[in-house]
Amino acid sequence: PTTARRGDDGQLVVGGRSVSEIVADAPTPVYVLDEADMRGRASVWASVMAEEFWPDYGMNGGDAFYAGKAFLTTRVARWMLSDGLGIDTASRVELAIGLAALTGEGDGSESFPPSRLGLHGNGKTAAEVAMAVQQRLGHLVVDSPEEIAYAAEAVRRLRAEGIYGPDERAGLMVRLTTGIHAGGHEFISTAHEDQKFGLSVHTGAARAAIDAIIAAPELELRGLHSHIGSQITDPAGFEAAAEAVLRLRHEVAADTGVLCEEIDLGGGLGIAYTGADAPAPSPAALARALAAVVRRLCDELGDAIPHVSVEPGRSIAGPAQVTLYTVTGLKRVELGQGASRLYVSVDGGMSDNLRPALYGADYTALLAGRRPDPAVGLVRSRLVGKHCESGDIVVRDVDLPADLAIGDVLAVPATGAYGRSMAMNYNLFTRPGVAWVRDGRQGWILRPETVEDLIALEGE
Ligand code: LLP
Repeated sequence: PTTARRGDDGQLVVGGRSVSEIVADAPTPVYVLDEADMRGRASVWASVMAEEFWPDYGMNGGDAFYAGKAFLTTRVARWMLSDGLGIDTASRVELAIGLAALTGEGDGSESFPPSRLGLHGNGKTAAEVAMAVQQRLGHLVVDSPEEIAYAAEAVRRLRAEGIYGPDERAGLMVRLTTGIHAGGHEFISTAHEDQKFGLSVHTGAARAAIDAIIAAPELELRGLHSHIGSQITDPAGFEAAAEAVLRLRHEVAADTGVLCEEIDLGGGLGIAYTGADAPAPSPAALARALAAVVRRLCDELGDAIPHVSVEPGRSIAGPAQVTLYTVTGLKRVELGQGASRLYVSVDGGMSDNLRPALYGADYTALLAGRRPDPAVGLVRSRLVGKHCESGDIVVRDVDLPADLAIGDVLAVPATGAYGRSMAMNYNLFTRPGVAWVRDGRQGWILRPETVEDLIALEGE
């Protein structure tokens, strides 16, 4: 978090709270979310999209939808809406939380229209599509021919019930697979992708879906959508995808006369988890690169410039949170030939951060509860959780002070995206709470789960 620093006594301070203050109210393991940092990152996205696609510069508007899958609560959704973003949801419950956040909090605070919400996902049910149509979401992104049929069916019913006007249509976006897939440093281009998301621009699947929407009297083609991957640090993949989307948009207009008004280029901008990670472009640099591609292609093709949106998740929530753990064990394991490894156990693990076990993701850790003594050397350590799984590694290799002791508090940075949102209950660990900190104040944005919560789920 941008507000993190070492206080005068050497403890880590986040959001104006020292680690000892934080854990006095929120014992470890705990996620600590820096509100100012997360909202600052969100505001940057909202303003760079607005600026780079400002209509006065010949563009047609731009905006950012926060990808709620990274971490979503009603409060987080209110922050994002207040800070000028929409919310991209990917499930029934994410959508319900987005909808709940639209209305003011009874304190005269602002309400937001459902056009600020989006719904994604493969295999959406008829009920999910109907809910999105009825609520008139800004981005209903369809992923299959069935979802298009569900939307048309929902409009017919809503018209009959007088909820939709007799000529009112549902606007749909189509999720495309462009053959461009990015992640890490490189991107590869293939003619066909063997994966569950989207409709291919190469096989005719995308075109068939688009034509079905244009032909349906209940529907209109609001836009085209592409999401090429996650944790991307090279803008080239985004640029190539934007180009593929704009070329398809042109082709559709040339054949049918329908030039869709919007393109959405998805999320995926990477963040630094450790000092070894390649730096990602800033949101401003990425938005500028995208604006340049949009301008160049639309000029070349003679098309009107579309509205452009993006769906960042990780780059907003990720860096804004640290996880605090307490050291619960120190074990030196002999590896033979004089070699050994120090295993440092903490009071959490794969249940609160699945990413190392699932993706081999790398993190780092630092002594947070006291000042590291510079006179004491560092020891290469393996930070592990307390789960019954040998792959339960928090950080594979990290240098920690040689005087590290049981009871020390460690911080693992950059856990805000896909941390709590992918947490689980293996070994019946209760999922940690998320404490928000800001200007020296602290509270729960999500309280810790309790044993009673888990027992309450049991049947008779
Ligand atoms: N939009 C769509 C359609 C997406 O599928 C995703 C992420 C995003 C936006 C947000 O992407 P972001 O800006 O956060 O990279 N659990 C994995 C990440 C899965 C991402 C899935 N889709 C992880 O922990 O790395």
